Amino acid sequence: MDNVFPNPFKPGAGHMPPYLAGREDEERQFRKLLSQSEILENLILTGLRGVGKTVLLETFKPMAIQEGWLWVGTDFSEAISVSEQNLALRLITDLAVVTSVFTLNAGTRPQAGFGVPDSPIVQQVNYAFLANMYEQQPGLITDKLKAVLEFVWTLVQQTDRKGIVFAYDEAQNLSDNAGKEQYPLSVLLDVFQSLQRKKIPFMLALSGLPTLFPKLVDARTFAERMFRVVNLGQLSGPDSALAITKPIEASNCPISFSDVSVEVITELSGGYPYFIQFICREVYDVWIQQIGAGQEESPIPVAEIIRKLDTDFFAGRWANATDRQRELMWVISELENCDSEFSVQEIVLKSSVMISKPFTSSHANQILSALANAGLIYRNRHGKYMFAVPLMADFVRRQADIGTSGMSLLTTG
Ligand SMILES: Nc1ncnc2c1ncn2[C@@H]1O[C@H](COP(=O)(O)OP(=O)(O)OP(=O)(O)O)[C@@H](O)[C@H]1O
Ligand SMILES: [Mg+2]
Repeated sequence: MDNVFPNPFKPGAGHMPPYLAGREDEERQFRKLLSQSEILENLILTGLRGVGKTVLLETFKPMAIQEGWLWVGTDFSEAISVSEQNLALRLITDLAVVTSVFTLNAGTRPQAGFGVPDSPIVQQVNYAFLANMYEQQPGLITDKLKAVLEFVWTLVQQTDRKGIVFAYDEAQNLSDNAGKEQYPLSVLLDVFQSLQRKKIPFMLALSGLPTLFPKLVDARTFAERMFRVVNLGQLSGPDSALAITKPIEASNCPISFSDVSVEVITELSGGYPYFIQFICREVYDVWIQQIGAGQEESPIPVAEIIRKLDTDFFAGRWANATDRQRELMWVISELENCDSEFSVQEIVLKSSVMISKPFTSSHANQILSALANAGLIYRNRHGKYMFAVPLMADFVRRQADIGTSGMSLLTTG
């Protein structure tokens, strides 16, 4: 049975969903950016973990190519963000993939023998060529990189391509490091600002966690005007329903979700794409087995699915937190606004009525920044905080209810 109707749902990082729901508005915004002949705005795609940044960026690629752009890019891993040189070589490596189809006529080579015409020497614009050009340029890394990119534009300009999109996922990893006198993030912004001022249509498309934009603005204030920030959120009710139902319509499968089931799944997932894929995958597996065994469809096993989500998705993050960090998250999870922004002040206040050893502001600040480093919390530009992981507050409250270690000291009331 499984072979005939394979489970279509795809929970996982960067796995293209069977049906990409919603996001029409985001696509429209990106198309608008692609229609610029002079680049005034670049793209930033941000949102919480699992909201669909990677797969959306992936679907932007064929759109851009269809609109006449070249597309280069990858992930910004932690390693690339270490030095300016790494960043420069990363860009050149990515560029070389598209420039290597270009050739330069590098003069002619004399042939042996009389009457044989000289043969042209053809130089491919590959990585070695670009890297060599980069090394030969005088000046700072910014100057060298600009020179290489300007040269590449002279080639692209001779084609029917409009320009190049430089797409980088996980861009929140890019950081300046004053201690080591390395400023890769600033170099990237300076280079693209300078090229765009010269009307060279090279556009940045960066995606990452919500810390990304504030980080760019911290590095260069002009970044504020340089980017259009597209913030990905939960799917609406109707879009969640499509994400749930479309994949099994398409595969003509024996399972269908009733309206009630769709509602339960939508509610349980909070409209977060990763959770929709996760829950649907589980439900599909359970039901297909029941049908195989000749039973009727049963209601959605909500408790079991939540337990599995807790173990598979949240537990790893929770396990790395200290007792005091867990306590702080528990206090947050009891705030009314725990799923949106909250302030240190609110945490301090709540802790004074919830726990025997309340947090001072400085202590809360300290723990919040440790949690930010662990990727559980992030601080927005206005000094407020949010959970970086969707539905985290619900999870934390569940842990408090079942008295997971670290919560045992807690007193309520
Ligand atoms: N619009 C959508 N409709 C249905 N499913 C989606 C949609 N967008 C993403 N998904 C699914 O959600 C999951 C997470 O997607 P993705 O990896 O792109 O998120 P992300 O924002 O890049 O997460 P991270 O911050 O961890 O990198 C995947 O399983 C993907 O198939
Ligand atoms: Mg991603």
